[in-house]
Amino acid sequence: MEETAKKVMLSGIQPSGELTLGSYLGAIRNWAELADQFDCYYFMADLHTLTARQVPAELRKRTLNQLAQYIACGLDPEKNTLFIQSHVRQHTELGWILSCYTMFGELSRMTQFKDKSAKNADNINGGLFTYPCLMAADILLYQPDFVPVGQDQKQHVELTRDVATRFNNLYGETFKIPEPYIPKVGARVMSLTSPENKMSKSDHDQNGCVYLMDEPEVIMRKFKRAVTDSDTEKCVRFDVENKPGVSNLMQIYAACTGKDYAAIEAEFDGLGYGAFKPKVGEAVVETLRPLREESLRIMQDKAYLESVYKAGAEKASYVANKTMRKVKKKIGLVAEP
Ligand code: TRP
Repeated sequence: MEETAKKVMLSGIQPSGELTLGSYLGAIRNWAELADQFDCYYFMADLHTLTARQVPAELRKRTLNQLAQYIACGLDPEKNTLFIQSHVRQHTELGWILSCYTMFGELSRMTQFKDKSAKNADNINGGLFTYPCLMAADILLYQPDFVPVGQDQKQHVELTRDVATRFNNLYGETFKIPEPYIPKVGARVMSLTSPENKMSKSDHDQNGCVYLMDEPEVIMRKFKRAVTDSDTEKCVRFDVENKPGVSNLMQIYAACTGKDYAAIEAEFDGLGYGAFKPKVGEAVVETLRPLREESLRIMQDKAYLESVYKAGAEKASYVANKTMRKVKKKIGLVAEP
């Protein structure tokens, strides 16, 4: 297998729900071009979802649908290594080993553990507590230079660095110490019904959140109902402070059409919000249409999808196994015959 000179990047994605317009415009859309600069690994973190109760058939479906949606959004399987976490056994294997090099005190300080155990007092399982060890294994197996993560995962990457450093100090250079990578941010899309909050699938008001797989009629309805602002001027003008709703719609329109704010202001000069909102809806419909159609096509093409995650797991296992052999040797496990 060829060695690449490119720096390595890896990220895990929990198959926890539908992709939103916010995550597409804000992040995923920019990932396609990362493949030119980096050797990229992305995996569906199915094992991580088990810390909360899942409906088995739904987990399976969501994992595959999510993979299909990411491919449709531009993560080309020819250029990126795409796989399913549970298909590469080394993740759980190294996860156990690293849990023996991670301190109880360190795990107790993870803010995500504290938050999640407060919210789910009836299911504070061992996996929820040791999950950062599995995440450290996910990362360290591939010796990545960069791990793109959101703010909420930074503490886990810090812990990964600490554990890797501790291991290297005990046994000599084994793991590359990865850096968190803050990707170039695209649009920060806000909720359509409460524009002071980020667009989120956990929003209680489902009208505030647009999904990649929403039908055109549904998208149009959500945009027609989007809140605009109660200021008196009633004109389309970018002003996040005083006109958060309109500014959010302008941002979405700009991201979908490539127009700048001055051009948008001119386009809707003299027209009210009533004319503007459906135009934004139409732009979103046209942006998402090819992605939705491609996702549906890929989801139905089970053989293709399987060929993608099979090839991905093969490539990933090869790399993971190299690290695993090193680790086992260093800590004193007998080499497999
Ligand atoms: N914990 C991450 C999340 O909840 C997902 C994840 C699992 C991950 N393993 C990873 C992210 C490794 C980056 C690297 O979003």
